[in-house]
Parts: sequence; C-alpha cells; structure tokens
Amino acid sequence: MQEPDADRPSSGGATIAIYSVKGGVGKTTFAANLAWYSAQGGHRTLLWDLDAAGGSGFLYGLEAKGSGLAEEVFSRDRSPAKLIQRTAWEGIDILPADESIRALDAQLMRIGKRKRLARLTEELSANYGRIVLDCPPVMNELSAQVVRAADLVIVPLPPSPLSARAFDLVVREISGNTRRHPPILPVLSMLDLRRALHRQARDANPNWPSVPYASAVEQCAVHQQPIGVHSPQSPAAQQFARLWRAIEAKLAERAG
Ligand SMILES: Nc1ncnc2c1ncn2[C@@H]1O[C@H](COP(=O)(O)OP(=O)(O)OP(=O)(O)O)[C@@H](O)[C@H]1O
Ligand SMILES: [Mg+2]
Repeated sequence: MQEPDADRPSSGGATIAIYSVKGGVGKTTFAANLAWYSAQGGHRTLLWDLDAAGGSGFLYGLEAKGSGLAEEVFSRDRSPAKLIQRTAWEGIDILPADESIRALDAQLMRIGKRKRLARLTEELSANYGRIVLDCPPVMNELSAQVVRAADLVIVPLPPSPLSARAFDLVVREISGNTRRHPPILPVLSMLDLRRALHRQARDANPNWPSVPYASAVEQCAVHQQPIGVHSPQSPAAQQFARLWRAIEAKLAERAG
C-alpha cells in the first residue's frame, strides 16, 4: 500500500474536533473510528487524545509512554512529536493522553496564550493531513482552545426529543466563547430505531447524519481495533464511513 502523504495546510490540511459538554455521548468512539476512515481516505492522520481518561489510545491498544508528559506540550513547549506513537495501521498515529492532562485547563489559563493549541495543530499539520481531537466533556479554556484550533466541530448527540435543544446549547456555548467559530456538525449517536423516541429524534432532524447503536461499536473496546478493521461490513461501520465522507464534503466547502 502506498504511504499516505501529509498534506500541508495550503493543500487542505484540517483539524476536526469531536466535542460535547456532555459525557458518555460517543466522542471517543467517533474520534477513534473517524480517524481510521480518514487514514483510509489517504490522509496521514493524527488522533490527539485530550481527555485524561485516555480512551482513544486504549481503543488502539496504546498507552502514554511516560506519565505526566502530555501536558508539558502546552506548559513547557515540549515537542508533541516526541510523544506521538504509531498504531498498527498505516497512516494513523496517536498522541495519547495521560493523567497530567487533567490539570491542563488551569495550565492554559496560567500560560495565557489563547491560541496555544491552534499553534500546535498548525505545526503538526506539516506532517498530518488530518488531525482528529478527542475532547473531554468540559466547557473551559481547553474547549475554547479546541474551538479556535478546529476547522470543523462534530457534536455526537444521543437521540431524544431534546436532541435539537441539546445541540443548540452546545452551539450557544461555543459561540459565546469566541467571536468566530468553525462549522459545527450535529450527529445522532447510538441511534436505536426500535425505540419510538429515537425514531422521533431522527424524523425531527432528517438532515443530521447518524451512527446506530450496535454491538459492533462496543466491540471496538474488546478488540482494541477500529470498527472498519474488525467489522467492516457492519451497518455501523458503513455509517462511520459515510459520516467521514460528509466531513470531507464539509471541509471541501470551506476550501472552495
Ligand atoms: N453507537 C454505539 N453503539 C453502542 N455503544 C456505543 C456506541 N457509541 C458509544 N458506545 C458506548 O458508549 C460508551 C460511551 O462512549 P464514549 O466513551 O465514546 O463516549 P464519550 O463521549 O467519549 O465519553 P466521555 O465523556 O466519558 O469521554 C462506551 O462504552 C462506548 O462503547
Ligand atoms: Mg471520551
């Protein structure tokens, strides 16, 4: 297989943040699986885990090499390149989280550089065509930096009669924090069409992409492999592939 090239920002490099203020909505699942489809699409891809829980690394069978280093990328100008690890798959690398990331918000406040993360992703885009950020469920200086760094924000939303309202709240929180923000794409996550409320949520938001509730998705944590590797033909895998194509289409709009 041909080694995917890094594409420079000028040729369309992009940072995609998977973000919500809510916990347990599917952020890490999205980040890990979408990063894989990004690499399949020929982009050299970096999955950057910004959550101390370290879920993205786990889903690829990786852990941070040293403890307490992940945060020094921000506070001490440690080069992120030294912390990046290769995965078992061509074209996708991971910058894992560790415990030190828990204190990142306070560190960013102390450092006072509002675009620290944006500068780092810009530097990394010399080597990576796509950078996928797995975010913790917070609204603070870190999430504000994520929004400044991202070209596109993906918000996974569990289906409910309140999905649209929940999405509006995230948009409001993001736009309250920064004057200019990137496009924000809502996605129904864990959609179970056997449930009437889920069908209602889908029908109320017919243009939103969705990912089904599926054991194949849960199996990612068992196999420590993306769904495209262990269950490529499953409906959930096909929806992730389709979602990635929608993301690329959105990024192309921006470039055009
Ligand atoms: N489509 C799905 N089908 C079945 N299970 C899912 C699906 N999406 C996510 N899950 C499961 O739901 C749980 C929460 O998902 P995940 O860790 O991705 O959420 P998160 O938003 O990253 O959570 P946190 O805020 O704690 O970081 C996990 O156990 C995951 O396996
Ligand atoms: Mg997570």
